[in-house]
Amino acid sequence: IKNIGVLTSGGDSPGMNAAIRAVVRAGIYHEVEVTGFIRGYEGLINNDFVNMDRKSVANIIQRGGTILKTARSEAFNTVEGRKKAYDNLKANHVDALVVIGGDGTFRGASVFSKEYDFPIIGLPGTIDNDLEGTDFTIGYDSALNTVVDAVDKIRDTAESHDRLFVVEVMGRDSGLIALRSGIGVGAEAIMIPEANMDVDDILHKLDHSRQDKSSKIIVIAEGDEAGGAFAVAEVLQKKYPQYDTKVSVLGHIQRGGKPTCMDRVLASRFGVAAVEGLLNGERGAMVGQINREIVFTPFDHATKHIDAEKVSSTWLKLIDILSF
Ligand code: F6P
Repeated sequence: IKNIGVLTSGGDSPGMNAAIRAVVRAGIYHEVEVTGFIRGYEGLINNDFVNMDRKSVANIIQRGGTILKTARSEAFNTVEGRKKAYDNLKANHVDALVVIGGDGTFRGASVFSKEYDFPIIGLPGTIDNDLEGTDFTIGYDSALNTVVDAVDKIRDTAESHDRLFVVEVMGRDSGLIALRSGIGVGAEAIMIPEANMDVDDILHKLDHSRQDKSSKIIVIAEGDEAGGAFAVAEVLQKKYPQYDTKVSVLGHIQRGGKPTCMDRVLASRFGVAAVEGLLNGERGAMVGQINREIVFTPFDHATKHIDAEKVSSTWLKLIDILSF
């Protein structure tokens, strides 16, 4: 392998720049050229790339977003799109790829790597932390800290006005952001898709949570089936007219901002492991960290999933105990 392509794809996450930097620096260390493709798989198809050197990744470890930009490519899902991508890679003498993204990114990588027998390693970059094959994804810790910071502020005003807040956090198919941030902010209850809780369960929890606390905060994952923060707030307002119930949807602020040190270190470690993995013959797999060890999980297993360990009843009980 003489030239490794790197790209970021799908939703961005804080720490992606640290990952790009690590791939480039590891390439330079191992005397391999690195080519950066712009807007994920779109860059492969449109032949949109930059040659990366030591300087092109200077001063980016602390920056949110991705300097290579990102996209969810429809064209890469087609045979013709992938053929263009392959032809461009060949023409540019790029002989391996590091793709940074979530499970959609890996699905594309899996198809492409089998179709063209092309070496690809994936890096888990998503704030959702919903991938099999790693304890943590790049960006999860930063997003959690953004949520905690925002909800601490909401708590100040909620407490002053004796209000009940329903705070909606990201996680299309996963409640992991809601789960940890909920514990971190001392939420009275959380609602996540994995727990199958309806509004009645929340009412029950609120009735049994600390009655002497003047504010109440419910953290709800956007993917929860209860109908979203506004629908839940409406029911709560009727049941507890004594509270002025408010909704706050945190939205895309969770995707931006400086990555935390944990995410920078994780991304740096993954980036180097990806390059060294490729040079050692690893391919068709995602780099992850399980119990502090670097592991490679085949793309077909590095998918979104509900892990009983990650969202176990132990976690949910913790919230009950802490808000009782
Ligand atoms: O997968 C990351 C994520 O931020 C989800 O939590 C969220 O549902 C989705 O992306 C939002 O995507 P978009 O930025 O395209 O609206």
